[in-house]
Amino acid sequence: MNQQVQAMYDKMRAKLDKVVPDVELRIKAEIAVEINALKVERNAVILGHNYMEPALFYSIPDFTGDSLDLSRKAAQTDKDVIVFCGVEFMAETAKILNPSKTVLVPSDKAGCSLAAAITAQDVRDLKALFPGVPVVTYVNTYADVKAESDICCTSGNALAVVQSLNTDKVIFLPDEYLGGNVARELGRKIIFPKKGVDGLQFDTAGDFQMIGWRGRCEVHEKFTVNDIQTVRAQFPDVAVLSHPECSPDVTAASDFSGSTNAMIQFVRDSKAPHYLVLTECSMGDNIAAENPQKDMLRLCMIRCPHMNTITMEDTLNALKLNRYVIEVPEDIRVRAARSVQRMIEIG
Ligand code: 13P
Ligand code: SF4
Repeated sequence: MNQQVQAMYDKMRAKLDKVVPDVELRIKAEIAVEINALKVERNAVILGHNYMEPALFYSIPDFTGDSLDLSRKAAQTDKDVIVFCGVEFMAETAKILNPSKTVLVPSDKAGCSLAAAITAQDVRDLKALFPGVPVVTYVNTYADVKAESDICCTSGNALAVVQSLNTDKVIFLPDEYLGGNVARELGRKIIFPKKGVDGLQFDTAGDFQMIGWRGRCEVHEKFTVNDIQTVRAQFPDVAVLSHPECSPDVTAASDFSGSTNAMIQFVRDSKAPHYLVLTECSMGDNIAAENPQKDMLRLCMIRCPHMNTITMEDTLNALKLNRYVIEVPEDIRVRAARSVQRMIEIG
């Protein structure tokens, strides 16, 4: 091991010796050193979402965080290249906010079931059905959908964004569960397209304040209230944390629900004897690495197949081969930027 690799290995080991096997750390430390050298050569910044696997998360990113945090970092950077270790919609948001930069995502398979659940035409159809009602769109969507929207939101600011509009109705897209959670917290009624009918049909009889969509995160939809009850039966003093992409029943049965950053902060700040974090598995590993004295219970059968396509090997290739470059047509970018900027201003 040369000196640089040894220093990187020592840094990674200090955090990860209980989480990642030593043999893997040695290999990843070498790759991390290569990535960091290329990062300097290309004047790049690496942004790492909280769901990145532990060896990547604790070695190469200049900034780690949730979607909201990283979009702010992407907007502010003066580097020439932004390498986004996250999924495609996140890299696209970086390009929307900072179009003069080269934005790279290390895998061309890093989709998202929520982003795939809605098209720009769907949004136009909804606007025709509910004229004048503002459209709030979760950032887990592609640029053309953002371009049709009035404002974006993340899991970290969805409530504030809906409240900021001050209207008696909003269209909230595309996450059925995030929409349901926001509606419950604000004491509003949300309606969804009817199931099993052709075309866009809603039951609009009675009072309602939110119009939702039936997109779901393929990871978070799998957690159940039964999972929580089973863990609580075994560990009565466990603190259960869930992401708001989980169903409203699951978040209601949890002790805390918030964005990935908010859950990390919750564990940092509290003193429960055990924690169960209902979200992507790698984040549980990353929290465990940061809090070795706290007991993290794992329900780790669910990994995000999209986030997991982002590896250190592919991040190295992204910088070496300048791939995969994110492009957004300028007319769409300008309209999408308005919705994302409006969200960022709210905080
Ligand atoms: P956060 O904005 O909370 O980081 O969540 C992004 C995401 O894709 C969760 O599945
Ligand atoms: Fe999309 Fe769910 Fe994966 Fe997040 S965890 S990127 S919402 S599929």
